[in-house]
Parts: sequence; structure tokens; C-alpha cells
Amino acid sequence: MVIDILNKEEFSKDDIISLLQTEDWYEVQSIYSKADEIRKIYCGNEVYLRGIIEFSNNCEQDCLYCGLRKSNTNLDRYRMSKDEIIQTAQTISDLGIKTIVLQSGEDFLFTGKIIADIISSIKAKLDVAITLSLGERNFEDYKLWKTAGADRYLLKHETANPKLYASYHLNQSLQDRIDHLFYLKSIGYQIGSGNIIGLPQQNIKDIAEDIILCRELDLDMASFSPFIASPETPYRKQKNADINLTLKVMAVARIVLKNVHIPATTAIATLDEYGREKGLQVGANVIMPNFTPNPYREKYSIYPNKKCVKDNPLQCPDCLENSISSMGRKIAAGKGHSLKASAS
Ligand code: 5AD
Ligand code: FES
Repeated sequence: MVIDILNKEEFSKDDIISLLQTEDWYEVQSIYSKADEIRKIYCGNEVYLRGIIEFSNNCEQDCLYCGLRKSNTNLDRYRMSKDEIIQTAQTISDLGIKTIVLQSGEDFLFTGKIIADIISSIKAKLDVAITLSLGERNFEDYKLWKTAGADRYLLKHETANPKLYASYHLNQSLQDRIDHLFYLKSIGYQIGSGNIIGLPQQNIKDIAEDIILCRELDLDMASFSPFIASPETPYRKQKNADINLTLKVMAVARIVLKNVHIPATTAIATLDEYGREKGLQVGANVIMPNFTPNPYREKYSIYPNKKCVKDNPLQCPDCLENSISSMGRKIAAGKGHSLKASAS
């Protein structure tokens, strides 16, 4: 019975599968309210904002689901200059947002040294935490960036099923990705990972394994985002993820993982008009608004109709403040470091 499972402290794989499988309305509501209760205990009512700068949409990888994939020749590729990146970081910081996420495809023209220089310039000027989300790079670069002042690294595992992983990512292996995550943690980064829900061929057991892998990695941040079919990819005709499954996965993840940051992702906000608010009510405590300036903003098209892509990011904090306060929550003032005592 789902209700008995919810009263446990530790969850087996079968427990997690049972929670993810139920379609019973009453049971699903109990999962949601348990997740909300656990979020309140471990994270309080504060919602952390992380301002994202998508500074390059060039990518060496060819992930079958992603609109930035190398084989997509219909995408206008861009790279922001160092000055543009730093100016955008300043804008985010001026709005009172204390984490800057530097995100790009796997773009090796941004060398280790160039990225390190951007990190140290931002850190010299602004009182912010820096999260990097640059894909798999070499271990020397990770060290260089840590020394330059980076605080966190976000590298999603996408799926914990090694066969599916290999089928979505040519020439890449799940084990490599896990090795990178453990290495990043070992040199002092707070680490974030997570999955995509609703990928072709993925089943509920795979999603249970995703949550278990997040637990094994002892993540500081875990992101569960719905698959959205992207037109310039081999998966253009696949079905989008189901919003209810997405919410259930987020809720179960909160119940199992407890003291971890969980975002209400841009993807869930894109999938459902009220996805962001719904996510915040079932375990999420983070929102990652996009500050990529024009004319680049529309070109970081991982999937179509990205939430807020046509809006002015300067209005983001006010808009978010309204919806967050209407839920009895508030925007956090601090940096929102790891909730785990073990993190540096
Ligand atoms: N739908 C949802 N999320 C996607 N990502 C890539 N393609 C899609 C898609 N079609 C996610 C991946 C990647 C991040 C940058 O975007 O998890 O790590
Ligand atoms: Fe791999 Fe974009 S090409 S996530």
C-alpha cells in the first residue's frame, strides 16, 4: 500500500516503483502532500532563483533528443563574448539573484583557460555563487575552474539505464558520466544531476533507477525534467512527457532524497502553463530563470516554445515574486548552497 510506504524512512527500489506506478487519485494526492511536507522540513518556504546565461549553443555532442545536437544544421549557432557574459552576470546580480549558471553545449572553442578567466572576472566583481553546466570536459579543466572560483557543476545523467544511455548518446557511456560526477564531487564542487522523464523506450523501472542513482551520487541538486519533442531531432514525432508523471517523479524524488535542491524546471513550465507552480507544490524549491540576452535567447532551442523565451528577463523577478508569494512562499535572499553538511 502506498500509504504504508510513505511512512517509511528508507525506500527500496520496489517501494519507489510502487509510488511511481500508482494512478489512484487519493494515493497520488498523498504522495504530493508528503513531498510538500518533506520540502518544508528540509528547505523551508524559501525559493532559490538561479539566473542562467546560455552563452554558446555550439555542441560537439549529438544527443538524439536535443535541438542543439551537432547534426542539426538548421540552427543559427552563436557564442557570446566575454564582455556580454559578464554584463549579463552583472544584470542578474543587480536583480538580487545570488547564483549565476553558466550554461553551454559542449563547446571546446571555449577553452579551459577562457572559461576560467570568465569565472574569475565574475567572482572578482560580484558576490555570487557560480554553477557550471558545460557538459563533459576534461578533468584538468574542472580543476582549473574550481580554482578560479566555480562553486557547483550541473551534469545530468539523463537516464540511469546504460543501454538506453548508449542509444541516445552515440559514443558516450553512462559510466563515464558517473565517473565525471564523482570526480567533480571529489574536488569540492557541489554537484547537480538528474534525468529526462518520458524519453522513448524508457519505463517506470528506469525512472526508479534514476532516483536511486541520484541517491547514490549524494547530489546537492537533482533535476527531473519532462521530455519535449524537438523538431530538428530524430525524436521529432515522439510524444511529450506526461505532466502528471513528471509531477509524481518530482514528488517521489523529494520523498526519497530529502535534503537536496530540486528545481521546477523550464521544461515543466513549457509543458504545462502552470507547471512551475505545480512543481513548487510537490517538492521543488528552486527556479532557474533564463537571462540569455537577445538576439541569442531564441537560438538556445533545446526544445520548442521554451517558457518566457519571448519575455524580457528583467521582468522575471517581479513575475516570479507574484506567483511565489501567492503560494505562501518567498524568494530567498541567500546563495542557496548545498543543504548537506558534507558539502564544502
Ligand atoms: N526535452 C527535455 N529536456 C531536454 N534536454 C535536452 N533535450 C531535451 C528535450 N528534448 C535537457 C538535457 C540536457 C539539458 C541541457 O536539457 O537534460 O542535459
Ligand atoms: Fe547533448 Fe544537447 S547535444 S544535451
